[in-house]
Amino acid sequence: MYSIAPSILSANFVRLEEEIAAVERGGASILHVDVMDGRFVPNITIGLPVVKSIRKATSMTIDTHLMIVEPGNYAVQFVEAGADMVSVHIEADPHIHRTLQGIRDAGAKAGVVVNPGTPLSAITEAIYHADFVLLMSVNPGFGGQKFIPRSLARVRELRQMITERGLNVKIEIDGGIDLSNIADVAEAGAEIMVAGSAVFGTDDPAEAVRSLTQKGAVWV
Ligand code: DX5
Ligand code: ZN
Repeated sequence: MYSIAPSILSANFVRLEEEIAAVERGGASILHVDVMDGRFVPNITIGLPVVKSIRKATSMTIDTHLMIVEPGNYAVQFVEAGADMVSVHIEADPHIHRTLQGIRDAGAKAGVVVNPGTPLSAITEAIYHADFVLLMSVNPGFGGQKFIPRSLARVRELRQMITERGLNVKIEIDGGIDLSNIADVAEAGAEIMVAGSAVFGTDDPAEAVRSLTQKGAVWV
């Protein structure tokens, strides 16, 4: 089975509490929070104060995806703000071991993120120090982009890497996940499905979470 992690990037920020309550009602247990700094990616979103406020509003697992330069300077602060999962791009951090270890020491799950153009061989070492790998299936920066088809083979390759090494590392996938591809992605081995526009871009986010869950469940 897998979990749906709605990304609030596509939510209505004025009504954030209601939006979060809706996806929780729909059965989501993880809330994906996209943190962008306008430097690592060409967009600016939200940061620590918003994570702190969300922490007070929900008991869901808060999953912060850091798309920022020098993530090592901020990762632990996100745990302190209330994040249960913190992920850091391999492309942004030459000290990934130290950053992942810091996240774990602070009491959260540590994730390493891989962009679509980065070979999976880039994380053969970091994977030993991570609780999950976040595989980007679009280039990070914006919601509502199209799933890059090659990502499916990359999920399989990553699944094999994890199995061969006997690791207990979860696979999360992010970008362009919707009803048309969620079953295939689940079948390839992804366990946490981030969905932004497929959830908050609809009139009924709770129902969208339910249908995404059922759609893939046929195959797992
Ligand atoms: C993209 C973000 C994603 C985004 C996904 O940079 O990391 O989490 O919100 O949105 P959709 O599901 O619309 O591709
Ligand atoms: Zn994300």
